[in-house]
Amino acid sequence: MMATLIFLVLFFLGFYLALRPLRGPREPFPEPPRREELLKELEVLKEEVKSLEGEEKKLAMARMVELERALDGWRPPEPRPFNPWPVALALGVVVLLGVGLWRYTLPRLPGETTVTARAEARELKALQDKAKRTGEVADLLAWGRRAYELQAFDQAAEAYLAVLKKDPTNIEAVRRVGILLFMGGRLEEAQMFLEIAQHADPKAAEGWLFLGNIYFQRGQAKEAIAAWEKYLEVGGEARERVEGLIAMARAQAQGGTDGKTVYQARCAACHGLTGEGGVGPRLQGNPVLKSPEAVREIVLRGRGTMPAIPLSEEELKVLLEFLGTL
Ligand code: HEC
Repeated sequence: MMATLIFLVLFFLGFYLALRPLRGPREPFPEPPRREELLKELEVLKEEVKSLEGEEKKLAMARMVELERALDGWRPPEPRPFNPWPVALALGVVVLLGVGLWRYTLPRLPGETTVTARAEARELKALQDKAKRTGEVADLLAWGRRAYELQAFDQAAEAYLAVLKKDPTNIEAVRRVGILLFMGGRLEEAQMFLEIAQHADPKAAEGWLFLGNIYFQRGQAKEAIAAWEKYLEVGGEARERVEGLIAMARAQAQGGTDGKTVYQARCAACHGLTGEGGVGPRLQGNPVLKSPEAVREIVLRGRGTMPAIPLSEEELKVLLEFLGTL
């Protein structure tokens, strides 16, 4: 996916470069990127490229070349004679990279997933048929479990509800119905089911996770934290994520203004609890942190897929100090 995106971006970049000379004398961009920004990005890339390999490294290096070129071209514009070679070269690189990416990344994935999806659909259908034929609790459970695993949630709900009709004390069914209700946005009912289930079977980690989510969404941070702690206690697998959730809930409950709290409440969900990276890039050791002005700008205005995060001056100040310690 990422590879495709990068390829497309490079492709259009190449296209643009190829067409640019046709547009006559170069006009300044409506809003030229600031030289400092380009330099900063270049610096960041130079750091990142050390840890990359293979295609990714090549792409990063291609981007560096682009940046250097942009920096070069940033000087007050002067008419230049048209030289076709750099353009041809850039296009050549783009095409080569593109062919490489297409070849090695794309065709394999879709094939695999359709085949497995088909096999799984068949398996699920067989389980469903059997469960409906026999109506036995064991068969219904087998169907519900597999449907839940495959995220066929409507089938899972049908199966588990059928179990409850036959055996209202089946705790697995109570728990799963609770989770499915939560997924359907019916928080109050979900909470009722899950409280019963977790009371009867406190060892079931997933129940604690969802119960915590419900409490949190209903504004009960303390109960949420307690539930998530139970999840960790009984050995739930998504340890890191849940530790992050707990930290976030704590930070929100305190609402304090020390930098760490602000970070955990407003940034950690995407950049990791200690800045190790996640949805957003790694912040630990990120050279961009050496420039508080740049960070301030990114936070207040957003960048790319990162939304703008409205913070008060006070919050920003302590946050920037905290980021300096990462
Ligand atoms: C919703 C997820 C999300 C949140 C919340 C978030 N970020 Fe980001 N952040 C991102 C993403 C994604 C990027 C990459 C943006 C891009 O370049 O396209 C990013 C980029 C950055 C960068 C630039 C890093 C680089 O190497 O160029 C900084 C600095 C940053 N974020 C700081 C913060 C701070 C500080 C906060 C909290 C106030 C925060 N972010 C909150 C997702 C997030």
